Amino acid sequence: MPFITLEGIDGAGKSTHLAWLAEQLHARGTEVVVTREPGGTPLGEKLREVLLNEPMHIETEALLMFAARREHLDKVIQPALARGAYVISDRFTDASFAYQCGGRGIAEARLRVLEDWVQAGLQPDLTLLFDVDVAIASQRLARNASLDRFEQEQQAFFERVRTHYLQRAQQYPARFRILDSAHSVEQIRAALTDIIKSL
Ligand code: TYD
Repeated sequence: MPFITLEGIDGAGKSTHLAWLAEQLHARGTEVVVTREPGGTPLGEKLREVLLNEPMHIETEALLMFAARREHLDKVIQPALARGAYVISDRFTDASFAYQCGGRGIAEARLRVLEDWVQAGLQPDLTLLFDVDVAIASQRLARNASLDRFEQEQQAFFERVRTHYLQRAQQYPARFRILDSAHSVEQIRAALTDIIKSL
């Protein structure tokens, strides 16, 4: 069954669409596993807590993202796909390339080694990239009471993350679909309905 990932800069609004998407797929009578990164397992959620709050070297950050992912694949994603469930993950490896390479400046070759190691060729079947202007996303974030380590980054950081996501979408057109987060919820749902028809 398909492995679907949702991506985008902080404040792009992907969470709004995740539950709705899961409902649509669930209505087909198939098991749907909704999960997230970093996290998705008890250990992964502990690593998430650290990653989102603790200052650390940028390479430590990248390594911990992939450590959490290794656990996530083993305990959640691979078993679910093997038993025929849909898996919808709120972020996956594209986020590591966008944030750790695009945002933080780690060389892509470094992450490709980790990707090969941890995923052994497994890639999402469909990646929904929620794309939005950085200024709009920042306005949305500003409404939150408390911001994590990533959300506190400057607009220039998110510009680099956004650019990197868009580059990846161009690089892997077969699995990426870009959704314009400036559109209304209804418009985005209509676009999503179209996209998942072919799944
Ligand atoms: P996010 O998915 O935005 O959750 P919430 O909506 O609850 O804030 O938060 C996860 C953060 O982790 C986000 O800022 C992006 C970052 N991240 C990376 O930097 N690299 C990764 O590989 C992943 C999965 C996430």
